[in-house]
Amino acid sequence: MSIIYSQEFNSFYLSTPNTSYVLSVNPGGFLIHNYYGCRLPVCDMRFTAERSSQASFCPNSADLTTVPDKAPMEYSCNGTGDYRVSALQIRESRGNASTDIRYVSHKFYKGKPALPGQPATYASQDEAETLEILTRDNVTGAEVTLYYTVFNNYDAIARRAVIHNSSALPLDLERVYSACYDIPKGNWDICHLYGTWAKERTFEQNPLPHGITSIESKRGSSSHYHNPFVAIASHNASEDQGDVYGVSLIYSGNFSMQVEQDTEGDLRLIAGINPTDFGWHLEPGASFETPEAVSVYSAEGLGEMSRTFHKLYRNNLCRGPWKNAKRPLLINNWEGTYFDFDEEKIYNIAKDASELGIEMLVLDDGWFGARNHDRAGLGDWYVNENKLRGGLGLLTQRIHALGMKFGLWFEPEMINPDSDLYRAHPDWCLQVAGRPMSLGRNQYVLDMSRPDVRDYLFERMDTILNEAQIEYIKWDFNRNITEAASALLPAHQQKEIFHRYVLGLYELLERLLTAHPDLLLEGCSGGGGRFDPAMLYYSPQIWTSDDTDAIERLTIQYGTSMCYPTTAISSHVSVCPNHQTGRSLPLQTRADVALAGTFGYELDVTKMSDEEKEAVKAHVAEYHKYYDLIHFGELYRLIPPNADECAWSYVAEDKTEALLTFVNIRCRPQTRRCVKFRGLAPDKIYADQDGNIRPGSVWMNVGIIKTDTMRDFETFKVYLKEVK
Ligand code: DGJ
Repeated sequence: MSIIYSQEFNSFYLSTPNTSYVLSVNPGGFLIHNYYGCRLPVCDMRFTAERSSQASFCPNSADLTTVPDKAPMEYSCNGTGDYRVSALQIRESRGNASTDIRYVSHKFYKGKPALPGQPATYASQDEAETLEILTRDNVTGAEVTLYYTVFNNYDAIARRAVIHNSSALPLDLERVYSACYDIPKGNWDICHLYGTWAKERTFEQNPLPHGITSIESKRGSSSHYHNPFVAIASHNASEDQGDVYGVSLIYSGNFSMQVEQDTEGDLRLIAGINPTDFGWHLEPGASFETPEAVSVYSAEGLGEMSRTFHKLYRNNLCRGPWKNAKRPLLINNWEGTYFDFDEEKIYNIAKDASELGIEMLVLDDGWFGARNHDRAGLGDWYVNENKLRGGLGLLTQRIHALGMKFGLWFEPEMINPDSDLYRAHPDWCLQVAGRPMSLGRNQYVLDMSRPDVRDYLFERMDTILNEAQIEYIKWDFNRNITEAASALLPAHQQKEIFHRYVLGLYELLERLLTAHPDLLLEGCSGGGGRFDPAMLYYSPQIWTSDDTDAIERLTIQYGTSMCYPTTAISSHVSVCPNHQTGRSLPLQTRADVALAGTFGYELDVTKMSDEEKEAVKAHVAEYHKYYDLIHFGELYRLIPPNADECAWSYVAEDKTEALLTFVNIRCRPQTRRCVKFRGLAPDKIYADQDGNIRPGSVWMNVGIIKTDTMRDFETFKVYLKEVK
């Protein structure tokens, strides 16, 4: 039983294999958070909510049962005495927005209900249990149901809220977060992933200050700048030590994760839709469902937290036939040709690639409309037969005849002003009447909340997929949203547009996958500008960054791995000098770094020397040899990328084999390099590829010692196999 209710203590006990989560109902009906951490037996935990006596500046609730500003509130409300960041604020029709919810009833059951129209983790009856707590604001008539799903095999809890207007008057939701976590005082750091284009998801760990720290996006997508992931970790928590609470939001739009450390040092973390530029008008009888937030507690540092997210997201978020299937090893023509190609050039790339063992050709931007540069054509999803003579049908046939699969690039949500679609439907863009529209990469954003826009996009994509044999789509999104208004929404609902956009996007993705269930989608947004768990629900792999320089990728992939599994991290070998950085790196290094993801190539293979082609064949063989270990093994980050070096390893779940990769970033003569395995079985005996046979405990406590001078950017790998 993962969920227990104690009538005696009026408390709920949620258990995962190694963690407990406890909340209770106080005499006034307030939901109070009591505990989240290492697994504990069921006992009276209500004492954890005791706080120093109140002062007049922290008012009592009207019924004197709590001091909302000090109590660990389970789902905090604004305007009734809790001055910290709050999860919920509802404005009622008389104009006031003070909000206060109290317990009404609860139920719990096996399994996990779906979240209609939105991506979420899923679980069978045997994999999880769900608790629903119904609460009510007696003044506004808002009913708030809090959902908690406890996974039986993972130390993870999924949460969300549903707001139902049970009154006779409309309500306006002003902030409605998915979850609120009150964490008692400690010496806490905040860990998060920041970045920009070509520099996504840089990991940062800092002591948490007093006041509010906000990790958020207002860009219309989760963005390159922040990721919907935050971890609260004990000060200096490392890969294998320290308490860590990781929270990840399954949402692709404007998100907000706020952490407030109050004067006493207690913390509150809220995760959900960003209230800035958000509102939702709720007519009587209507409901609003928040996205889902997932928390993972680890008592063994960041590494264990990441491994839990990896397994949960791989097995219970990604869906469809590709979720755990071996992904095709692809070559993408973007950096090889940009817009300058015709069918012969693409065919020749495919032909040479097929001879090296590459399994899929992905035709990137430029195959449609007047798309000979990035100033025209977006929206005109008709094959440009001047470029691809014979059309996609012929090209895909020829590529399939090489024994390869075929993938195609789309950027459905966008439109160039210089396009037939814009000339026909200028009203289809997001726009504010009378205000000039901002351009981003010469393009506008389509209003994805409009059914007619989605119908057009579906018809175009569906037709193209039906007319040619296409196994994969790369779904791109190359700018952020401005002037966010929809021609179809009344004024009092314009604040809904950002969220409606995201719901429209989900609807189109779902429709496409329903019509083409075997399609492999790869998410993309100018690299990794929409690398979030919601996208993983549709596309089990996501282009990680437009920065394909393997040394830059060390930082990007390290940060990405905090929350996302290797199967999600698209990573390609590209040419040197690198197009983003101008840096030249050994081909082996580029391959070793790309192997830490869904491996592929992004260059014109016809320009490679025979020697390079032989090396590619060897890398392809390595990809196959290590595929299961890298993609389904457990990741141990051994040395975070620093000025000198970086290392990581994968250990098979049954601990019979492991693969370590070391990157020497800077040559330092007379410096020996040492790196220790983690996660092996101490008593198993392992042999490396050179015949060194040692117990796991030696590989972990002493590790590998390299005394020969390693050159700039040189790598080595160590493969261990258990000796029986
Ligand atoms: C941005 C993507 O990240 C690139 O890989 C490429 O697909 C371009 N868009 C094409 O315009």
